[in-house]
Amino acid sequence: MRISILKKETKKLKEFAMLEWTTANLEHYGKLPNWKEDRYLFQASDNNEIIGFLDCALLLGVAEVKQLIVAQSKRGQGVGKKLMTEMEKYMKGKGGHKVILSTGKGWVSEKFYESLGYFKIADLKDHFLHHDFVEFSKLLGK
Ligand SMILES: CC(C)(COP(=O)(O)OP(=O)(O)OC[C@H]1O[C@@H](n2cnc3c(N)ncnc32)[C@H](O)[C@@H]1OP(=O)(O)O)[C@@H](O)C(=O)NCCC(=O)NCCS
Repeated sequence: MRISILKKETKKLKEFAMLEWTTANLEHYGKLPNWKEDRYLFQASDNNEIIGFLDCALLLGVAEVKQLIVAQSKRGQGVGKKLMTEMEKYMKGKGGHKVILSTGKGWVSEKFYESLGYFKIADLKDHFLHHDFVEFSKLLGK
């Protein structure tokens, strides 16, 4: 056996993955899910000025917050909360049933997500640049 590292996917490899995943997906889900991720960008503005941004990906009912940032001068005024609640409502409308995200342990954002009803599902010790992170989740309900 030999392991090769490819720069990009070849036609042969694509066909291999397609064939093998068809069988595995049928075994796991009893159907062939559409593994296409949709991306949604939420922008908060005030007087034509951007004051916050949330980037989220939705894949088969699970929304993942990729980034959330509020302008330093606008923090603590409910902008982050509004971005998150609008995102949750919109994701639910798109068939999302759950949100996941991760953030640095001990950061302000940990308290922020807890205040919005997110619960810790994992401790990601020694994560990005050796910092400890926390993974959060929230169920959006039916
Ligand atoms: C985390 C962040 C997005 C929060 O946005 P925000 O607009 O300042 O937060 P909000 O004003 O909507 O706060 C909502 C709730 O979060 C909690 N919270 C927010 N800031 C807090 C702080 N400094 N300390 C403790 N709790 C805090 C409070 O419970 C608050 O509710 P309250 O105002 O009724 O007390 C913002 O601080 C930020 O952009 N930080 C830098 C980037 C970052 O860390 N992003 C997330 C990492 S993935």
